Amino acid sequence: MGKTSKDKRDIYYRRAKEEGWRARSAFKLLQIDSEFHIFEGVTKAVDLCAAPGSWSQVLSRKLNKDGNQTARIVAVDLQAMAPLDGVVQIQGDITKVSTAEEIIKHFRNEHADLVVCDGAPDVTGLHDMDIYIQSQLLLAALNITTHILKPHGIFVAKIFRGKDISLLYSQLKIFFKDVYCTKPRSSRNSSIEAFVVCKNYSPPEGYQPHMLNPLLTHEHCDFNQLTGINRYVVPFVVCGDLSQPDSDACYSLEYEGKEYKYHEPNQSPISPPYEEAITLLEKGKLQLKKPGTSLTVFNEPESAISAFKEKCTISSSPEEEPSVTVSISDNKALKEIDDESK
Ligand SMILES: C[S@@+](CC[C@H](N)C(=O)[O-])C[C@H]1O[C@@H](n2cnc3c(N)ncnc32)[C@H](O)[C@@H]1O
Repeated sequence: MGKTSKDKRDIYYRRAKEEGWRARSAFKLLQIDSEFHIFEGVTKAVDLCAAPGSWSQVLSRKLNKDGNQTARIVAVDLQAMAPLDGVVQIQGDITKVSTAEEIIKHFRNEHADLVVCDGAPDVTGLHDMDIYIQSQLLLAALNITTHILKPHGIFVAKIFRGKDISLLYSQLKIFFKDVYCTKPRSSRNSSIEAFVVCKNYSPPEGYQPHMLNPLLTHEHCDFNQLTGINRYVVPFVVCGDLSQPDSDACYSLEYEGKEYKYHEPNQSPISPPYEEAITLLEKGKLQLKKPGTSLTVFNEPESAISAFKEKCTISSSPEEEPSVTVSISDNKALKEIDDESK
């Protein structure tokens, strides 16, 4: 695959590199803001599931407009993230009480104006399982949020629109006066990903935040049968101007008459999951060096795969064909969810 083919297929990926964003996801948050004005008056924000950091970059640029690093931004992710000016980083799992406590510590006596969460699990390809794990991430994010968000604050989070989505909406509606579901133009139509924008944080009277809330019931219940006050129908809003590029379309490299120049991704993975494989490969301890080995990679951004391929090629002998063929899985179920995480 040529270096420019992804640039051609994905205008947001290309623009992210041109404009200095670490990931195309930056445009999702920017487009959500253009519709919902989520940054107005915000000086303290938390970015949950932040790596590689494009949402933290957006927060940092939007909240420090005057150039002074006056805003307080805390970013959390399972994975290590390259440092960003003015962003406090915590490496941890947001479903763990210890991570939640660490975040809360940073906000002692103060509350955040905004919490965002773009969390996505490592997809298994089992649709129902992936949707369930995604909703668990959202609930963990909501639990942390109930500790640190100020009254009337805003919570934005990624969701997968599965069949039990009404349950999540109802749970969010307990804590926020206004709950919207939105699909930024930069989020592909082919993906079940969407975002909830929850405004006006107002927990029920007497609610005591703690990390042990069993927010999801494990008993069977068809939530679609709920009616009236028990079933809140969330307004669905498409955001991002219609004149913005369509994330499912291909655009010529000279889009809008601009001269095309190839850009490397702004931030390569700093501690990728395949790191150990590369070390073993370099030490000659991995069978991958056998000619003709083929390897299918799930759930890795294309930049990570090219880096991996390059390493594989270097370590094969010059007379041989590159020993490893690396291909991306075209498992539809995986792709649908995973495409959005790149
Ligand atoms: C789509 S990426 C986030 C992209 C990010 N918003 C950006 O703009 O650069 C999803 C992230 O969720 C993180 N994640 C998944 N489960 C997590 C968990 N339990 N705790 C913390 N981070 C988690 C992953 O490590 C991954 O970096």
